[in-house]
Amino acid sequence: MSTLSIFGAQWGDEGKGKVIDRLAADIDYIVRYQGGANAGHTVVVGDQTYALHLIPSGILHPGRINVIANGVAIDPISFLGEVDGLIDRGVAVSGENLVLSSNAHVIFEHHKTIDGLAERWKGEGRIGTTGRGIGPAYSDKAARTGLRISDLLDPERCKVRLRAALAEKNALIERVHESEPLDLEAQLELYSTLADRLRPFVADTGKLLRQAYRDGKSILFEGAQGVMLDIDHGTYPFVTSSNTGTGGIPAGTGFPPVWVEESMGIAKAYCTRVGEGPFPSELTCENGEQLCRVGHEFGTTTGRPRRAGWFDGVAARYAFELGGTRSWVMTKLDVLSGFDEIQVGVAYNHEGVRYEEYPAHLPCIEGVEVEYKTLPGWKEDITGAREWSDLPPAAQNYVKVLGDLVGAPVALISVGPDRAAMVTCPK
Ligand code: GDP
Ligand code: IMO
Ligand code: MG
Repeated sequence: MSTLSIFGAQWGDEGKGKVIDRLAADIDYIVRYQGGANAGHTVVVGDQTYALHLIPSGILHPGRINVIANGVAIDPISFLGEVDGLIDRGVAVSGENLVLSSNAHVIFEHHKTIDGLAERWKGEGRIGTTGRGIGPAYSDKAARTGLRISDLLDPERCKVRLRAALAEKNALIERVHESEPLDLEAQLELYSTLADRLRPFVADTGKLLRQAYRDGKSILFEGAQGVMLDIDHGTYPFVTSSNTGTGGIPAGTGFPPVWVEESMGIAKAYCTRVGEGPFPSELTCENGEQLCRVGHEFGTTTGRPRRAGWFDGVAARYAFELGGTRSWVMTKLDVLSGFDEIQVGVAYNHEGVRYEEYPAHLPCIEGVEVEYKTLPGWKEDITGAREWSDLPPAAQNYVKVLGDLVGAPVALISVGPDRAAMVTCPK
């Protein structure tokens, strides 16, 4: 029996999809518990690349059960599009290996419309969201005006609740944002067709997971986004609308927190961020361009270029501690090949005060200056490394120094996008 939380420890896009796909070969259940189709988890198998948004990263392994639990905000159009896309590519997807919670909230067309309109409205304060309706849908959940998947499956209930919701949202769209309202009848028809297609996937996923645990099955909880985008612990307000790390699991699944046995964070060997918001170690020079170019740093969901910078040890230590990580996975180490020297953020300085611990009390970390430690680089291409001894001494040193810096050793290193490109670290 084993239960494992895998979560992003930076600003998202740490390579969670790749690592989870690799681990899923030996896991019975792979579970998404928060976020929505704002996530873009890339899995590369041979010459095939899959971008998963809502469907868990275990879907490519036959025999695994993939669960989208109650804490996820589900856009039925995105979900069914992904299902069809995978089936078209020969991946078996059905209610047998993909299960959807009846208690998950639904993202409607109006949520996506309002996401886009509100971003424009905010001007300078814009977050740079993915436009997937995440903020508006989680707002409705908290306001108790949202619809859940079970509401969608009940035509009468759906009609009453969607009519009430849309009356309010249309007023907002028309009178505040001066845009075109949505047609209730067309929306009811659209979502009733979608509901029929969703039905075979829907179940009580909390009950399913608790039973799986009692039966001794292995369960992996797949985080989306990253701790620095967590609504409570991230760089608020430049965050997403859910709890992105291990802390989001119990509420997002109905799985008791004390049953989650192991927690592993994932961080790149450097940092990226997509969208607006503070990013202390951001590089706007040639080094940043090199990280983006070599690391192909473009958003999986929106295609936007990502911002890049050196590894931020202060933020990573904070993220790993929040997630209760005892060891972690370092991804994209291969992208650092070629630098003469590599810098690593070890502390922040702000208004004369030095912080080795993440200063979560600061209203905004925009103004902090990062103090760096310089480490020797290496020139060798390491994408073919499969053993610790295949890595050049400077790369081994880099991995050890980062483990010491964040207070948790690196257990696994990813050296390329493919499933096989992984190195296990010596204990
Ligand atoms: P996720 O959202 O955390 O799953 O990460 P994304 O899939 O959005 O972004 C990670 C990108 O890096 C994807 O294009 C992956 O294929 C790629 N990737 C993952 N691990 C590695 C690695 O170790 N080396 C390289 N070069 N690319 C990687
Ligand atoms: P994965 O799971 C990187 C960012 C957006 C924006 C902010 C809020 O692939 O790591 P939202 O649409 O959630 O309201 O946007 O969060 N963001 C991500 N950045 N990876 C993600 O997911 C992200 N999901 C949201 O760019 O800054
Ligand atoms: Mg991503």
